[in-house]
Amino acid sequence: MHEQINHPCVQHKLAIIRDVDTGHKRFRELATEITEFLCYEALKNIRMKEVEVETPLATAKCHKIDTDLVVVPILRAGVGMLEGILELVPTARVGFVGLYRDEETKQPVSYYERFPPQTKGGTCIIIDPMLATGGSTIAAIDLLKKSGAGQIVVICIVTCEEGLSLVEEAHPDVPVYTASIDDRLDENKYIVPGLGDAGDRLFGTSH
Ligand code: PRP
Ligand code: URA
Repeated sequence: MHEQINHPCVQHKLAIIRDVDTGHKRFRELATEITEFLCYEALKNIRMKEVEVETPLATAKCHKIDTDLVVVPILRAGVGMLEGILELVPTARVGFVGLYRDEETKQPVSYYERFPPQTKGGTCIIIDPMLATGGSTIAAIDLLKKSGAGQIVVICIVTCEEGLSLVEEAHPDVPVYTASIDDRLDENKYIVPGLGDAGDRLFGTSH
C-alpha cells in the first residue's frame, strides 16, 4: 500500500524544496514542514484509547494515542525529517540505521544500527527523504524486522514507481507515505525530476 499526499500545503512546499535555488537553511525547514504533514497522514490509523478529561464544565470522553512509537531515520538524510516527526509525536523513541549507497553498485551498505526496544503492538516509522531504487528502505525494513519490530510504516518525501514497487514486493505489509511518485530513475539511480542529493542539500555538503 502506498499513498501520495496531494494536499495543496504539501504540494506547495514540495515545489519549493525541489527548486535548485532553494538553499540548505530553507531546504531543512521545508523538509521538517513537509514531514509533519506526511506523518499526520501516516499515523491516521494508529491505536487510540478512550480517556475521561475534566473540562471546567464537565467530564469529556476523549481519545489519546495508545501506541508506542519508534522513529528510525536512515542516516544521513533521514535526520532531516526527524524534527518534523517529533513535533507531532514528541514522546516517540528514536533509533538509527546507517546506510549509504555504494557509488558503483548503488547497493546499500550498512554501517550502523541502534534501535530502542520494540514493544508488542508498537509502530515503527522509517524516515528517509528519498526512496530511489528502494534498496536502502528494504535494507532498513529487513534490519528492523530482525530486531523484532511489529508494524512498520515508511515516510519519504519523493519516490518513483520503480523503487516503490520493489519495496512493496519485498515487504507488502509496510505502507509507504510520500509527497510525490516521480517519473523515473536516471543512469546514476537518481530520481528524476526529484530534488537532487537530499543529504547534500540538507547539510550543505556541496554548493
Ligand atoms: C540516499 C537517500 C537514501 C538512499 C536512497 O542516501 O537518503 O537513503 O540514497 O536510494 P536507494 O533507494 O536507491 O537506496 P545516500 O546513500 O546518498 O546517503 P546519505 O544520506 O548519507 O547522503
Ligand atoms: N539519493 C538522493 O539523495 N537522491 C536521489 O535522487 C537518489 C538517491
